[in-house]
Amino acid sequence: MYNFNYYTPTKVVFGKGVESEVGNLVRENNCKKVLIHYGSGSVIKTGLLEKICKSLDEANVNYITLGGVVPNPRLSLVYEGIELCKKYSVDFILAVGGGSVIDSAKAIGYGVTNEGDVWDFYEKKRQATACLPIGVVLTIAAAGSEMSQSSVITKEEGLIKRGYSSNYSRPKFAIMNPEITMSLPKYQTSCGCVDIMMHTMERYLNYGETMEITDRMSEELLKDVMLNARILLNEPKNYNARAEVMWAGSLSHNGLMSCGNDGGDWATHQIEHELGGMYDVAHGAGLAAVWGSWARYVMDERLDRFAKFAVNVMDIKHRGDLRETAIAGIEAMERFYREIEMPISLKELGLDVSDEEMRELATKCCFGGKRTVGVVKKLGIEDVYNIYKMAK
Ligand code: NZQ
Ligand code: ZN
Repeated sequence: MYNFNYYTPTKVVFGKGVESEVGNLVRENNCKKVLIHYGSGSVIKTGLLEKICKSLDEANVNYITLGGVVPNPRLSLVYEGIELCKKYSVDFILAVGGGSVIDSAKAIGYGVTNEGDVWDFYEKKRQATACLPIGVVLTIAAAGSEMSQSSVITKEEGLIKRGYSSNYSRPKFAIMNPEITMSLPKYQTSCGCVDIMMHTMERYLNYGETMEITDRMSEELLKDVMLNARILLNEPKNYNARAEVMWAGSLSHNGLMSCGNDGGDWATHQIEHELGGMYDVAHGAGLAAVWGSWARYVMDERLDRFAKFAVNVMDIKHRGDLRETAIAGIEAMERFYREIEMPISLKELGLDVSDEEMRELATKCCFGGKRTVGVVKKLGIEDVYNIYKMAK
């Protein structure tokens, strides 16, 4: 096992009705003006925004609002948010939504507290030295941004989706009421379950050393999400299943599943992010569409890990041969994706990607050849292109 730092400063307030505590939680942060940031309208339709505003009013907290965040959140709205925050001297951002809203809030937070163009951070040109404090009312279990240090933004010009990570952006608090996620469309619930699982699988299917306790927690988390994803297909209002999945989403991406291992592979995420940038697909569905192809392409580098995954997570009986066992595990995961109505190819994702486009995606993914992605196997442009081709 490797040395590690485990830093999880986010206060979690979890359970039925907890959104009514938002006013007091914001006030605890001694802020003068709050920006409530939200998405394309689900929070208005469900009445959540109204409840949040009421709670802030009761706690005598001043606020302004900015909605309009879309999945694969856009840089243009981030710029708008930065200007708004500067104009009204906002000193706290309350994200009411999912990964897209939280990530947009984090980007605005960087833009307000650092000089220059916020996109520089996402292009890895320089490092942020601060971020406005962020609070979260989570409405979808998926990205794990409510406890993570990451933010992923899409720049419309060139359709480039890039992530930036720093501990400054870890939310101060995350309010999680599983009931709020009951209004999610079935497709988004399944997308969320895939993303949650991928955050653990990226870390589990790694190259370096690991720690048995982390492996075991990862295996149980994955099995728990599979079990509850199946329940939610037929019972979207099952509170316990919603709660299991919601908490798994945070634990999967708050660093716990990286303790003692090499931090993970992340190639599947990088390969998917290009699809999100170019074709605006839902993140979880994009991950499901490419994961099997990535796994088959790299598995020979770590057959032991893939076979362990097959046996301990997918309940495959060891075939006596590592490779055969590994393949059976990958196939079982793809069967699960199918079961929860997720795609396992680009075609099933609804994309007809030309050869030329696959080359462009692969080139963008590897920054024109300046970087490789993944650690199980370090993938260059040709490798990533091959994976898109296999996923076609
Ligand atoms: O915008 P509204 O109207 O709210 O609709 C949203 C959106 O269309 C809807 N929704 C959310 N909560 C709902 C609801 N509809 C009904 N009832 C509710 N309670 O669901 C749709 C998806 O929302 P979004 O925020 O995009 O989902 P998710 O949490 O999956 O976030 C995806 C984004 O997070 C990034 C992804 O790349 C993608 O851009 N990620 C962020 C990470 C991080 N910051 O740590 C890590 C992840 O790997 C991921 O890359
Ligand atoms: Zn993800």
